[in-house]
Amino acid sequence: MDLGLEGKLFVVGGASRGLGRAVAAQLMAEGARAILVSRDENALSKTARELGEGAYPVAADLSDPSSVNRISGAISESGDELGGVLVNSGGPPFGPALELEDEQWLAAFGSLIVGPLRLLRALVPVMGDGASVLFVTSSSVRQPIPNLDASNVLRPGVAALAKCLARELAPRVRVNSLAPGRIDTERSRSLDASNARALGVALEEQRARASGAIPMGRYGEPEEFGRAAAFLLSPAASYINGVSLQVDGGSVSALP
Ligand SMILES: NC(=O)c1ccc[n+]([C@@H]2O[C@H](COP(=O)([O-])OP(=O)(O)OC[C@H]3O[C@@H](n4cnc5c(N)ncnc54)[C@H](OP(=O)(O)O)[C@@H]3O)[C@@H](O)[C@H]2O)c1
Repeated sequence: MDLGLEGKLFVVGGASRGLGRAVAAQLMAEGARAILVSRDENALSKTARELGEGAYPVAADLSDPSSVNRISGAISESGDELGGVLVNSGGPPFGPALELEDEQWLAAFGSLIVGPLRLLRALVPVMGDGASVLFVTSSSVRQPIPNLDASNVLRPGVAALAKCLARELAPRVRVNSLAPGRIDTERSRSLDASNARALGVALEEQRARASGAIPMGRYGEPEEFGRAAAFLLSPAASYINGVSLQVDGGSVSALP
């Protein structure tokens, strides 16, 4: 199947490592170009070099309003219309609801809801017909994750935002979301470490328990997430709009 990504331009958030990097790599393997966004300039430049020609690094903090102008500038410089955006950044803090400070809740809201709104306000007008927006959410949109209440509370709101936009931006732009379970990245390793500390068990023990709870018996690889994302971002998914797809090895058992 030809995904129809050849020559298209995407903005990929949280692109220096983990899920964002894997999505950028997959888009580029299909012939697309990618404006890569994350904060650490050195790490981002290294990733851009590794991904090769067609990767354009823009070091910016997506929680900071000024990031939007820098990203819009990179799109104008390319002279192309935008084929889509991966709305992705760092995750909210770990911890149970009452132990998180007000400032942590407000920062998580800023990063998960306000930042994406601000970014899309600027980028949707420069998207071409048939463009695609893909939000990275979490399995917490279906089922709360222990020790991650900021995600449990706010990610369902992100899924609702994606659903609203899917109705409002169609038929010109499609909007979907991908809900990862446990994909093997720095973020999931930090969550394992935090859970191991909270439960007083060794890290390996915690990781084995978490893997054992996944029907596939293992964490996902970032490339497995990247392939699902590249499809949903591509013109090949032209009639898929408003869905939330779990990439979780079968972890969420809720119906439907
Ligand atoms: N991995 C999983 O299994 C999993 C499961 C559920 C949900 N998620 C969610 O999926 C998203 C990506 O996860 P991941 O595993 O890829 O995390 P990761 O390995 O920690 O990577 C996060 C990426 O986002 C960038 N980033 C962080 N804060 C940013 C900001 N304010 N502005 C711009 N870029 C920022 C980081 O680079 P800099 O630090 O240099 O900015 C990095 O490139 C997170 O929101 C996470 O909560 C992941």
